Amino acid sequence: MWDYTEKVKHFFLHPKNVGEIENPDAVGEVGSILCGDALKLTMKVDKETGRIIDAKFQTFGCASAIASSSALTELIKGKTLDEAMALSNQDIAEFLGGLPKEKMHCSVMGREALEAAVANYRGEEKPVETGEKIICQCFEVSEEKIRSVAVENHLTTVEDVTNFTKAGGGCGACIPAIEAILKDIWSVKVTPEMVPKPKKFTNLQKIALIQDVLEREIRPLLQADGGDIELIDVEGNRVIVALRAMCVTCPMGGVTINSIQEKLRELVSENLVVEAE
Ligand code: FES
Repeated sequence: MWDYTEKVKHFFLHPKNVGEIENPDAVGEVGSILCGDALKLTMKVDKETGRIIDAKFQTFGCASAIASSSALTELIKGKTLDEAMALSNQDIAEFLGGLPKEKMHCSVMGREALEAAVANYRGEEKPVETGEKIICQCFEVSEEKIRSVAVENHLTTVEDVTNFTKAGGGCGACIPAIEAILKDIWSVKVTPEMVPKPKKFTNLQKIALIQDVLEREIRPLLQADGGDIELIDVEGNRVIVALRAMCVTCPMGGVTINSIQEKLRELVSENLVVEAE
C-alpha cells in the first residue's frame, strides 16, 4: 500500500474537473494505455487575456495519476498560459502534499499534458516524431524526456529516472542507456578555461611563501613534539631545510621531510623538492 497524503486520497476519491470540455480551445494528450498511464487535458482559454478559464481531464491510471491530473487542473485554472507553463511537476506534487517517489511519474505526466495542450493552443505542436530516440521500449520513453526530467528534478540514479518516467521499470534492457545519459548529464566537462593556471611567483615571493608555510603550518607541529625546522636556502625548486632539536635524532626524519614537501607542493608549487641539509 502506497503511503499517500490525505490530500492525494481526497483528490483521488473526490477528483475535481473530471471530463472533457466541449469545443475546447486546447487539447493535450500524453501517455498511452498500453504503457499503463494516459492523460487527456482539455482547456478553454480567454483569447483576449490568454487566461485559462476552464480545464478538465480524463485519465487512465492509478490513484496518484487521478489525483495529479485533478491537482493540475486546479492549479492552472485562472492562470495565464505563461503562468501555467511556469509550473513544474514538483509544483503538482507539492500541491498534493507530496507523492510517493515511485509515483512521481504521475506528476511528470501532468506537466507533459499541460505542455502539449499549450503547444496545441499556440499551434506549436511538434510534427509527428520520426527522429526522436526511444530509449525505453517498454514504456516508450525518449532520450529527450529522460534528459529534461532528469535535469529539472536533479535525478542522478536509474531508480530516480524510473520513478519519474517509468523508463527502466520493465524488462530493464534500457538501464545501461539510462546510466550513460545520466553520466553524460552530470559529469563535469573540463574545458581548458577551467584548468587552473599554475601560480607564477618571482623568486622572492616564492621564498616568502615557503617561509610563511613553514612558520604557520609546519613549525608548530614539530615544536609540539620537541622538534624544530629552519629554512636554509631555496635554489630554483629545491628547498633546503635543517631539522633541529628532537628532529635531528628522530628516526622518522625522512617521513617528516616528505610531509613537509607534500604541504609545500599543496600550498606553494607542485614542483618543489624538499631536501634536508
Ligand atoms: S526497455 Fe526500458 S524497461 Fe524495458
